[in-house]
Amino acid sequence: APGGMPDQNADKVITVAHRGASGYAPENTMAAFEKAVEMNADYIELDVQLSKDGQLVVIHDTTVDRTTDGTGEVRNLTLEELRKLDAGSHFSPEFAGERIPTLEEVLDAYGSKTGILIEIKAPHLYPGIEQKVADALAERNMDESSNGKIIVQSFDFNSMKKFHNILPDVPIGVLTSGAHHLTDPMLQEFKTYADYVNPNLAYVNRDLVNRIHALDMGIMAWTVRDQSQVAPLLEAGVDGIITDYPDYVPRHKD
Ligand code: G3P
Ligand code: CA
Repeated sequence: APGGMPDQNADKVITVAHRGASGYAPENTMAAFEKAVEMNADYIELDVQLSKDGQLVVIHDTTVDRTTDGTGEVRNLTLEELRKLDAGSHFSPEFAGERIPTLEEVLDAYGSKTGILIEIKAPHLYPGIEQKVADALAERNMDESSNGKIIVQSFDFNSMKKFHNILPDVPIGVLTSGAHHLTDPMLQEFKTYADYVNPNLAYVNRDLVNRIHALDMGIMAWTVRDQSQVAPLLEAGVDGIITDYPDYVPRHKD
């Protein structure tokens, strides 16, 4: 195998398209999710927040400034106002007119085509967002692990505990960005409600993978933006690779 990477792990590693195939289309838009499915990603990752009128919207930053032609906080704009914004032109003129999707729109369009890794972004700004995400899943019978491939993740551990209490059958991921989150006591605490520990790739090595696997949890690393980052993650034995470029991960699905 290229670079001496173990074939066995390359065959089963889960490819997650980060904010959709965001290396090829504007992040967190239907165009990026469509591209991810075309590229045969196993999951799309997306970020969810709440509009001023309490609708679940798919956008990464807590303001619209970077990824749209508007300005302001997501939480101060209604869905109608958000939907008027162009979420594609910042990436390339060819994507002009892409809109900020709602979570429900993405679940309806892609729930049967691909797995969906839903990140609840900045939940401290959005009291009640866990219940709203849970309702959107339950309405579609996506709240049981047997139905569809849904994983819910956040950097906010309390939010994930809350979500686990609402829908205990939906797999949970905790996002971690520091070594202090990856001690054995922390991993044991995560195990009480989570199924995946998803660290920044800088912290991934064989020892960490083994300690997470010893607790019967999975590990998905983020965010691969350079091809050379893939082989070390496969060698370390991760279960999933979260990447802007799904084609950087060796293909495995039919
Ligand atoms: O899925 C992992 C990754 O999305 C976490 O970082 O900032 O891209 O949401 P961020
Ligand atoms: Ca994210």
